[in-house]
Amino acid sequence: MAARIFVTRPIPEAGLEILKREIGDFDINPDDRVLSKHELIEQVKGRQGVLCLLTDSVDADVIEAAADCRVLANYAVGYNNIDVEAATGHGIAVTNTPGVLTDATADLTWALLMAAARRIVPADRFTRAGNFKAWGPMLFLGADITGHTLGIVGAGRVGAAVARRSVGFKMRILYTDVQQNETLEDELGATRVELDTLLREADFVCLHVPLADDTRHLLGEREFSMMKESAVLVNTSRGPVLDEAALVAALRNDEIFGAGLDVFEDEPKLAPGLAQLDNAVIPPHIGSATIATRNRMAEMAAGNLVAVLKGHTPPNCVNPEALRHR
Ligand code: GLV
Ligand code: GLV
Repeated sequence: MAARIFVTRPIPEAGLEILKREIGDFDINPDDRVLSKHELIEQVKGRQGVLCLLTDSVDADVIEAAADCRVLANYAVGYNNIDVEAATGHGIAVTNTPGVLTDATADLTWALLMAAARRIVPADRFTRAGNFKAWGPMLFLGADITGHTLGIVGAGRVGAAVARRSVGFKMRILYTDVQQNETLEDELGATRVELDTLLREADFVCLHVPLADDTRHLLGEREFSMMKESAVLVNTSRGPVLDEAALVAALRNDEIFGAGLDVFEDEPKLAPGLAQLDNAVIPPHIGSATIATRNRMAEMAAGNLVAVLKGHTPPNCVNPEALRHR
């Protein structure tokens, strides 16, 4: 008989231990790969809890098949991969892993910002290719960071953590957000502005908004053309927040200086031409990928799942109204 719980892909042991200890039996996709929609539908049938990943598209069809399910515990802070409305309608709690990956993601944002500004990836490739013959006055000239303007698009947990890391670089901080972030204003002298102002004035533009209808293609051709030619764009949020084909064109035409992208519009596919650009740094969605962070995310996702199955309120529920429906 199938176990009550299904885990869609191997995650760190720390989380699986909690499932073992608190629930006992669970089934797990043993292969380190994304399940197809058909496989996911077959696997969720009869389960009471599913621990899923941001690569699992848990749409209305999957939720329909998960008739006995009470909780979808997402192993991510973002949950745009889940049709939350459909889940709520079926009384299924959706949980996420906020907070624990804030620092790791903010660190990676800075790594990309600096790598793009100082052209680290092509410079490294140059050295390895044996092209480093002598120090050169014009070799790999990049962009200054200190004293420049940092533009934070979305001043939530990650955006604020990125802003805080700028203190040593004595930067002017602009931000956009649906809400005023008074702490950031008091602590760092950050100024809330319209997106267009931020794009025109910032030397570094970092995206930290969740993916939703109103943030899809927030940045496109018009926005890239407003940015400074010397500007660097960093995206560690979700790929579809920007129009990737338009960004490739802007980078190719040197309309902006560079970009650091950890996320892509149609992951794992890249927009045509992106991989050929020397002024883009493109790691494979590793924002939260530190050993400790992934352990904590595993514990948190498992803890959320266990809480619901035990009839408790899960610590990180994004649709508390689903619990009331039952
Ligand atoms: C990673 O992208 C996450 O949302 O946790
Ligand atoms: C991360 O994105 C968080 O909001 O905790």
